[in-house]
Amino acid sequence: MDGQNSDKKELLLITGSPRKNGVTAMLAEIFLEEAKRLDKDINVTILDTYTLALNPCTHCGYCKKTPACVHKDFLPVDAALQKADILVIASPVYVLGFPAPLKALLDRSQQYFEAKFSLGITSIKKHKKAILLSAYGSKDNRGILFMEKQLKMIFNVFNAELNAIITARNTDSGNVDFDALREEIKTALAGILLI
Ligand SMILES: Cc1cc2nc3c(=O)[nH]c(=O)nc-3n(C[C@H](O)[C@H](O)[C@H](O)COP(=O)(O)O)c2cc1C
Repeated sequence: MDGQNSDKKELLLITGSPRKNGVTAMLAEIFLEEAKRLDKDINVTILDTYTLALNPCTHCGYCKKTPACVHKDFLPVDAALQKADILVIASPVYVLGFPAPLKALLDRSQQYFEAKFSLGITSIKKHKKAILLSAYGSKDNRGILFMEKQLKMIFNVFNAELNAIITARNTDSGNVDFDALREEIKTALAGILLI
């Protein structure tokens, strides 16, 4: 056991936008700034799903018999999920859902469902608090509702509870109130870091 770091909070940020200067990236940046302001020792791991470019699940059946995925590209995601105390998913809405590289990551959690329901194994032992940061271009919030449902399902096997959803809406108008969003983020963070 790493005695030196054992009391540090581990924050895992999974990003789902290809745009480095987009609204989602800005929300994630504000989130990290405010998290570090509240807890200067917090340890941050960032997984960019566009860089990871995970293979999609092929429903090969391997994880029904062995508690792992046959494709080894998921191993860094599993390692990061194992140690996280706080999980942040930062994603734009694409066609009322998650962009393909992030959806691939979520689909690959099938290995955890099979571990649980076919093999009776709990894969992710550490409980986490989770937050969804999202941006959508229109005033139509259906994407967020669908994404919330998907995350709640997957969080059963990620051992995570969804504590807050913070969204920038109507982003394609160019009018995004980042100050108001920062306040929302601060409130959400106080709820998970100060208790
Ligand atoms: C492929 C694609 C699909 C999109 N689908 C939706 C959608 O279903 N609903 C919506 O409100 N906006 C949609 N948008 C707009 C984005 O959600 C919006 O521009 C968002 O700010 C992009 O995030 P980013 O600024 O972090 O890149 C879509 C954009 C793209 C490129």
